[in-house]
Amino acid sequence: MRYSDDLIEEIRLKNDIIDVIGGYVQLKRKGSSYFGLCPFHNEKTPSFSVSPSKQMYYCFGCGAGGNVFTFLMEYENFTFPEAVKSLAERAGVKLPDLEYSKEEKRKADQRSRLLQINKEAAKYYYVLLRDHKGCQGLEYLKKRGLSDETIQRFGLGYSDKFGGGLYKFLKQRGYPDEDLRESGLFNSDERHGMYDKFWNRVIFPIMDVNNKVIGFGGRVMGDGKPKYLNSPETKIFDKSRNLYGLNAARLSRKKNLIICEGYMDVISMHQAGFNHAVASLGTALTSPQASLLKRYTDEVLIIYDSDEAGTKAALRAIPLLKEVGLSTKVVNLKPHKDPDEFIKSEGSKAFEARLEKAENSFLFEVRMAERDYDMNDPQGKTDFLHYVAGRLLNFEDEIERNNYIESVARVYHIELATLSKLVGKLALKGAGIIKTKKPKSGIHSDREKESGTDKAQKLMLTWITSYPDIMEQITDYISPDDFTTDLYHKVAVMIFEQYHEGEINPARLLSRFDDSDETRKVTALFNAVIPLNSDAEKMQALSDVICNMKEHSINYRSSRLDPTDMQGLQEVMRDKKALEQWKENGIRLHISFD
Ligand code: CTP
Ligand code: MN
Repeated sequence: MRYSDDLIEEIRLKNDIIDVIGGYVQLKRKGSSYFGLCPFHNEKTPSFSVSPSKQMYYCFGCGAGGNVFTFLMEYENFTFPEAVKSLAERAGVKLPDLEYSKEEKRKADQRSRLLQINKEAAKYYYVLLRDHKGCQGLEYLKKRGLSDETIQRFGLGYSDKFGGGLYKFLKQRGYPDEDLRESGLFNSDERHGMYDKFWNRVIFPIMDVNNKVIGFGGRVMGDGKPKYLNSPETKIFDKSRNLYGLNAARLSRKKNLIICEGYMDVISMHQAGFNHAVASLGTALTSPQASLLKRYTDEVLIIYDSDEAGTKAALRAIPLLKEVGLSTKVVNLKPHKDPDEFIKSEGSKAFEARLEKAENSFLFEVRMAERDYDMNDPQGKTDFLHYVAGRLLNFEDEIERNNYIESVARVYHIELATLSKLVGKLALKGAGIIKTKKPKSGIHSDREKESGTDKAQKLMLTWITSYPDIMEQITDYISPDDFTTDLYHKVAVMIFEQYHEGEINPARLLSRFDDSDETRKVTALFNAVIPLNSDAEKMQALSDVICNMKEHSINYRSSRLDPTDMQGLQEVMRDKKALEQWKENGIRLHISFD
């Protein structure tokens, strides 16, 4: 059972977004919006905006955005029902009791059941660690220098020596085998049936950014193998899209985030005051993880193990981080192996100093490449410098390129003029340009799409939601089918539907997206920047967007047209003709943008 859409809407209407957010963030009026310092990333000049007319917030810096419900979910780490409850209380709206019957529980979707199972499991391990049965685990964690507060903060737990406790515990609470199997917390074989995957290990619950437990890591308390055992990927645990510790690190308000290799590294850094550390989940850093980091920061410090494997991993991570626009530095821990050991032997002051001395990732890459050349041999050194010059060519921005040329010249004792000349010569030859490799999937292609058709569609949705009165005329030109990108189309259908029902209401529409990633993307749709002043300029810009969208939509549809679809063909032809006319005569909009 869930609250009705109307009730949710009533609660939203009774909680003005300026009042609610104003309770957390100091807001100042600027034009038709309010601005303040974004609570979701660290910044010095306000890019966090709240719109009283749209009843939505949006940060131009980190892209956080949504309605009042989303705000509480992000800020207080509430679930959607919790946010609804809290705002209902605030506005004095009485909520009906939501009683879950066993039957309804089974019907609720599998994701939330799996989350529930993980939550129960985390509680089970947590209690066991504090029980006399868990004293060995507690002793192990203490021996590794963790304080009670740290153990508490990370919700650490223990799985006991016998592999059946969790299974029994969850069965008693009515979870069917089918769901338990999907949770990844159990193994099964013919002789034993189902039994706990984790036993006799200390347990690290892995949480997503909203503090939901999505999986576990378990460590042996000694030298056994494997050292760490992790939950497998499940419907709720995608190792390539989550980072250990990000739930805490994202609220740290430090100037950067630290990426490291292990659970214990994250935990000891947090304990030492470096609460901006996160780790990947037993796998190499991925592109989606890089994008995730970019949401919360502009700079990442890589602190990987100081062995060869760590160096290799850093070299692989750098281009991924660069690709999403993060500036990156590499921290040197030598002679220690990892952050945990460094802090233990040298303390947090010395660690802080190493962070300060972090090396620019380009210079790190160059220094590592140096190892492939014999620098004592004139030919070896020449080859190396040619390689570096080729890399330097990749900086498109001239000022940036010159700064790097200067640094490299200084580090390798080359005349600045000589290196500049070499780079210039290579550029002329068109040689040496090593285009940064494009990742096979994900971000890059997304960004390429964004530049063309997506931008026009996004702008259109911003126009419509900012000036709902224009819809009357827009519908003469544009229909939801002209929005060709999946998510945009979905949103456009809802907006047009709202328009026909009498009121465009973007904040209401947001309550229909459960997934915080989608909510964020949709909010961005309503907040493209329209930097224009006079009505005439606006009118011109709007007609441009209309023509642009129509053109894309015609191309899109004709490339997908089934040759036997006569009606579709006619429609495309008709649109083509109309577009030619609009282009020739201009679009006549009569709009006042007050
Ligand atoms: N890891 C894993 N499975 C293993 C070994 C390691 O999943 N068998 C992952 C874990 O996430 C671990 C990270 O890789 O945190 C780093 O591994 P390692 O450097 O071997 O461990 P440490 O972080 O140093 O762990 P500890 O300090 O507990 O020895
Ligand atoms: Mn370690």
